[in-house]
Amino acid sequence: MKRSRGGATDLSVQLGPLRLKNPIVAASGTFGYGTEFLPYLKLADLGGFVTKGLSLLPRRGNAPPRTCETPSGMLNAIGLANVGVEAFLDEKLPALRGCGTAVIANVFGETREEYVAVARRLNGAPDLHAIELNLSCPNTEKGGIAFGVSPPVIREVVAAVRRAAPGLPLIVKLTPNITDIAVAGRAARDGGADMLSLVNTFLGMAVDLRARRPVLDNVVGGLSGPAIKPLALYMVQRVYREVGLPIMGMGGISGAEDALEFMVAGSAAVQVGTANFFDPTASVRMVRDIDAWCRREGIRAVRELTGTLQFPHGAPPAPCAG
Ligand SMILES: Cc1cc2nc3c(=O)[nH]c(=O)nc-3n(C[C@H](O)[C@H](O)[C@H](O)COP(=O)(O)O)c2cc1C
Repeated sequence: MKRSRGGATDLSVQLGPLRLKNPIVAASGTFGYGTEFLPYLKLADLGGFVTKGLSLLPRRGNAPPRTCETPSGMLNAIGLANVGVEAFLDEKLPALRGCGTAVIANVFGETREEYVAVARRLNGAPDLHAIELNLSCPNTEKGGIAFGVSPPVIREVVAAVRRAAPGLPLIVKLTPNITDIAVAGRAARDGGADMLSLVNTFLGMAVDLRARRPVLDNVVGGLSGPAIKPLALYMVQRVYREVGLPIMGMGGISGAEDALEFMVAGSAAVQVGTANFFDPTASVRMVRDIDAWCRREGIRAVRELTGTLQFPHGAPPAPCAG
């Protein structure tokens, strides 16, 4: 693993069937459909990016205000506004031809059939490298409880999507709003996921004290950004030890050292979300800084860092507080 100083770092990573040129992937909902970031960076410098979540039909999302800043983070209740899978295939994906990076389509539905229908449309699309299933979506057939909190539902929807899109690597994105995220990870694995991404946002709210009202029109939003990093890191190391699938970790990653901490905790690659809003060049800066860090530390291949976290007193037990 060690090498003498100097020489190029091998930044490539392999997650099951998906090979990325480097471990930095821009996260869903924070990077549009990729082309929005062309004024700021070269997409080819990234390991990949994930599109905004795609549904069967276009959606306008929630009424404003639908984002707000919070200490070291932000809340969003965008409501999964998107162009719909047909416009993605007709307009957005062709604009990415030859962009030189892995394009990953984020998929959601309000019913199992909707997940399946979107995945089936994407299967075989040219220049699409993988799909990522967002399981944080409310299941309208089960009273609006998120798909991702019920292990049997996770297994079912993942297996159905697996059958509908056999040609695409399948990433399953886990919600952290569950007692033990490892249980959800095992259900996704058993349904046929190739890899996992975690975490999505944590449910939260903000209050406008003077108005005695919630800040967000939707009341509830998803918390992201540096505020969630320790929570996300904990979950990544737990899923890494308990599930045995390759992981894309995320949650508050803002610099190269954050990304490397997630890799040491068990991520094979990482996703960068909220940081894209306060610095649209954050993702490509991290690629450069990871390379520089590896050179300084004498590390030849960044993938060798994955899962190297040491536990001086033995691995921590299952969830406990206090
Ligand atoms: C404004 C916004 C929109 C998002 N939209 C989606 C989405 O459509 N699908 C999805 O799976 N995750 C979505 N996310 C979650 C992010 O991809 C990511 O999981 C989360 O923000 C944690 O990473 P971060 O702290 O680096 O932002 C969204 C996050 C934000 C801030």
